[in-house]
Amino acid sequence: TKGAAMVTAVASRVQAQRKQIDKVLALFRLTQEQLVGIRDKMRVELEYGLKRDTHPLATVKMLPTYVCGMPDGTEKGKFLALDLGGTNFRVLLMKIRSGRRSVRMYNKIFAIPLEIMQGTGEELFDHIVQCIADFLDYMGLKGAQLPLGFTFSFPCRQASIDKGTLIEWTKGFKATDCEGEDVVDMLREAIKRRNEFDLDIVAVVNDTVGTMMTCGYEDRNCEVGLIAGTGSNMCYMEEMRNIELVEGDEGKMCINTEWGGFGDNGCLDDIRTQYDKEVDEGSLNPGKQRYEKMTSGMYLGEIVRQILIDLTKQGLLFRGQISERLRTRGIFETKFLSQIESDRLALLQVRKILQQLGLDSTCEDSIVVKEVCGAVSRRAAELCGAGLAAIVEKRREDQGFEHLKITVGVDGTLYKLHPHFSRILQETVKELAPRCDVTFMLSEDGSGKGAALITAVAKRLQQARRE
Ligand code: GLC
Repeated sequence: TKGAAMVTAVASRVQAQRKQIDKVLALFRLTQEQLVGIRDKMRVELEYGLKRDTHPLATVKMLPTYVCGMPDGTEKGKFLALDLGGTNFRVLLMKIRSGRRSVRMYNKIFAIPLEIMQGTGEELFDHIVQCIADFLDYMGLKGAQLPLGFTFSFPCRQASIDKGTLIEWTKGFKATDCEGEDVVDMLREAIKRRNEFDLDIVAVVNDTVGTMMTCGYEDRNCEVGLIAGTGSNMCYMEEMRNIELVEGDEGKMCINTEWGGFGDNGCLDDIRTQYDKEVDEGSLNPGKQRYEKMTSGMYLGEIVRQILIDLTKQGLLFRGQISERLRTRGIFETKFLSQIESDRLALLQVRKILQQLGLDSTCEDSIVVKEVCGAVSRRAAELCGAGLAAIVEKRREDQGFEHLKITVGVDGTLYKLHPHFSRILQETVKELAPRCDVTFMLSEDGSGKGAALITAVAKRLQQARRE
């Protein structure tokens, strides 16, 4: 009959559509073999970055941090910390009590408006100093001359712990006249311009390093710091003898890998999709930070959005209508992705979230959106796991151990908020580094606390040198 024929026609159309959707999702699936390949490529790039000859061209920059030791528990005092480069800009006051290994913290979050993030360097640093002034006022500390640690979460070339030349901006920042400049000098000059208070800037620290330090304060085995947040990066303790850029062979130094740049030489091209390329091209730094753009919070939502646009164009979503909202960059923040993928959420609630985002969806649409989010975040966690497997394996081999027990300090919104990211990351590391026993330790407020701890250690060493 006619009715039956129509039902069959609809059914086969639905089937064809499903096939098209699956085809897109399949682009994000990585085989075990591919992941092993990525781990091995990461290993090659890590070694390149450490060697003097290959370092200048290395995509994984492997920056020496001049952080050589963990806090030993004798640190004490009051410290200020700044935290710039994550989801929020914060000013913090830390009180470290020796012996008890306890840290008390007060902090205030300040917004950095887009026009300041992408204005001039002077404006950016004046704004930062304005926030410090507000905070000191608020805490009743005006005039106090406190040591300050600056968590500055961008690639910096360091020649000592209190100097850091910004190599290039990453993530959402693009203030002019900063690249190639020492950010500590820029901060000092801004403080001078204001001429209201003086601060003793002791250390400039990457957020990964702060995170490792905070966890290292409690766990001696912590030798790796990982950020899976707005950006993606990792640091670890390396043997001095392997760091060709720094004199000396004794002991260890923390290396900020800046692994976000992995793939910038094309070595990940076989797994990058057209959507990854679109996200890259629409970003502030096209061609740069390709691994970061596949693994971090600032970009995952953008990948999802590109896929949704394509599926809509193919008539597979949103009744084929691309709304203005869907064309808007940055609508899928990490918190929305996390909500959409939460297992406890009914589809109706997924539709509600989409509605909040200005996207009118049917029930079928919401299923597809959830699947897309799942494919993108799973790949991100697996890629990140493959990278991490490379480093723990390297540490194991370098120390000549059959088995290695190691702790990774972790922070970042993606790791903390997403319902599956951390689990998939851990499973992947286990599979790709079977001889390593990796413990993940969530760092409470790693980047700020860590900067204070590093400042405290640096102060202690300064004083010891003087005595
Ligand atoms: C970006 C920055 C890096 C930082 C990471 C996480 O990759 O370049 O320095 O550690 O984001 O915030």
